[in-house]
Amino acid sequence: MGVLVVVGSQWGDEGKGKIVDLLAKDADMVVRYQGGSNAGHTVVKGGQKYVFKLIPSGVLYRGTACVIGNGVVIDPADLIAEMDGLKAKGVRADRHLYISQAAHVIMPYHKAIEKASETHKGGRRIGTTGRGIGPAYVDKMARIGIRMGDLLDPPYFRQQLEDNVAETNALLKTLYGAPGFEAEKIFQEYLRYAERLKDMIVDTGLLVHHAVAKGKMVVLEGAQGTHLDVDHGTYPYVTSSSAAAGGACTGTGLGPTCVDAVLGIAKAYTTRVGSGPFPTELTDNEGALLQRRGNEFGAVTGRERRCGWYDAVLVRYAVRVNGLTSLCITKLDVLDGLGEIGLCTGYKFKGKKLAEIPSDVAMLGVCEPVYETWPGWTKSTTAVKAYRDLPREARRYLARLEELAKCPIDIISTGAKREETVVLRNPLLRAKRKR
Ligand code: IMP
Repeated sequence: MGVLVVVGSQWGDEGKGKIVDLLAKDADMVVRYQGGSNAGHTVVKGGQKYVFKLIPSGVLYRGTACVIGNGVVIDPADLIAEMDGLKAKGVRADRHLYISQAAHVIMPYHKAIEKASETHKGGRRIGTTGRGIGPAYVDKMARIGIRMGDLLDPPYFRQQLEDNVAETNALLKTLYGAPGFEAEKIFQEYLRYAERLKDMIVDTGLLVHHAVAKGKMVVLEGAQGTHLDVDHGTYPYVTSSSAAAGGACTGTGLGPTCVDAVLGIAKAYTTRVGSGPFPTELTDNEGALLQRRGNEFGAVTGRERRCGWYDAVLVRYAVRVNGLTSLCITKLDVLDGLGEIGLCTGYKFKGKKLAEIPSDVAMLGVCEPVYETWPGWTKSTTAVKAYRDLPREARRYLARLEELAKCPIDIISTGAKREETVVLRNPLLRAKRKR
């Protein structure tokens, strides 16, 4: 038995989908704990590529229960489209998918508010994915949100929706000069979604609890990454949920003592989508090379990801705020053939050395990275499965990442496919052994 949290250690897009898929083979249940269809978890199986936005990355194993936890915000149209897309590829998600009755629903007006607000902000925009994520979480915290379970109670749903639409229309018209919405139209549309999803909407807190109590192996899957966490990230350039490991408890209904191990995923370099500080960003040819080689374009929005060298300060922070028990380094193969590799070990602020990330985002924005330069390797690491088959320079680089993070590396990913992976130790065993 055991509960393992899988969390992004940078600004998202670290390759959590591939790793959760890999671990799901031995898991009884995979639970998504936050975010929404702003996420794009990519899994490649048997030459087929899958991008999961809301459905947990364990869905390709029929025997693994997949749960969308209460911490997630759900756009039902996206969820249904995702289920239909999977069905077309022969995967029947509905047979082992459970949706929390307490997960909040994304409404069309959430997207409209977000779009208007981002336009209004101009140069100070967050650079969101435009999926209505922030406004949906705003409604949740304002205690006016509509939850998946509410869709099954039409009178309550209609009342809440009418109130929300009236308020939103006033805001859209007066502040942004944008058109409003018709509550009845949304009501009818969402009733159709509810009809399709109703059998999957359950008390997932209880479901997950029973799985843990029965000694099942449970993976709690995070979306985005630590530095996009609303509390622990580079605020305000963050997403609106608790992407760090703490969110795994609030987003599923499990108590902290249930979590046995926390695996942090980090790329062998760094990327970021949207606005916000990024000390090791490379705006030159080297950045463009990483972007091209790593295919660093958003899985959901198609936007270019900003690229830069690995930042050990970011990952050390992720080890701290998530209580990581081990690390997985992904996309090592993207660094193949580089003459030299930059590795940021600290920052300089006004000539003073900093070992920790400053909590002030403006200060982080002007920090200069302090680099070590590591020799690259000419031999390809693509698809390597055994640690001893990695070039010596790659092994040295990884050993240095481990040393700087003060956290052991369990997995190294050397390609997009499941099998293109070096597993030094199965992190699920760390979860198992604790009990
Ligand atoms: P939102 O989550 O759409 O509100 O976007 C807020 C910030 O988080 C923006 O900078 C997005 O680019 C970023 N973001 C949201 N989801 C992801 C993701 O899955 N990967 C990487 N960045 C993301």
